[in-house]
Amino acid sequence: MSEYSLKPLSPVCGAEIRGINFNHRLTAEMVASLRQALLKYLVLVFRCGKISEDTQIGIAQHFGPTIGARSALRKDGGDRRLMVISNVRENGEPIGALPDGELMFHSDSVFLQKPLLGALLYAEEVPSTGGNTLFANMYQAYDSLSEAVKSKISNLKAVHAYDYETSVKKASYNRSSAPFAEHPVVRTHPETGRKALYVNRLMTEELVGLPANESKALLEILFAHAERSEHVYEHVWKREDLVFWDNRCTQHARTNFPSDERRLLRRVGIEGDTPF
Ligand SMILES: [Fe+2]
Repeated sequence: MSEYSLKPLSPVCGAEIRGINFNHRLTAEMVASLRQALLKYLVLVFRCGKISEDTQIGIAQHFGPTIGARSALRKDGGDRRLMVISNVRENGEPIGALPDGELMFHSDSVFLQKPLLGALLYAEEVPSTGGNTLFANMYQAYDSLSEAVKSKISNLKAVHAYDYETSVKKASYNRSSAPFAEHPVVRTHPETGRKALYVNRLMTEELVGLPANESKALLEILFAHAERSEHVYEHVWKREDLVFWDNRCTQHARTNFPSDERRLLRRVGIEGDTPF
């Protein structure tokens, strides 16, 4: 039997897990149990105490091959298998990615042909207030759409691009320089078989085959629907939290936080597959 305690954090998604010692290698039984918990709760919050970078990578490797920082996103000289997300600056330059303020809803690496399965984000330093992560349950977002909208989007694809300045989306993206990928607007989760809405405000640029104004209007409806508070769990970080989310059926955003307080988290991604 896998021994840990699990407490759901909200009716939407999220469960808190205590009682796992990550300094010991996880058994196959434990990994299988945690995978089931991830599929059920979508976001797992481990109150795990201090863990090393190697330990964090080791945990992720139980769930698939890992993906680290995009080039040049880790400037503190640390292990590049981890992406650092931080507003901490050395010589005036942020040491990590996505340093400041609010961040719009997105799912990670959706501009790739194979976006992440999930990611494990560990908090080394958190501000006294804000910098919370909002997780939207995209199964729920899809299920609660009207039948008319469901049928309108059932065979649509969307283009997602990596072309933004931290939290600010550009007015239009540059196809010749920005990485982009096309994915179904409604994806089927490869493990649960459930349908999830798969567009996000930060990176989704257009709906393929629709006139620009129609595409923009429909996307706005879908973004606003997905972001409704009844689809969202807000995670208020504590130092040494390790959060593992399923990136295939959730999207996330960050709330603002004081610019004069330090925030430093490290992320390792797990390879996913092509959405269908
Ligand atoms: Fe993200």
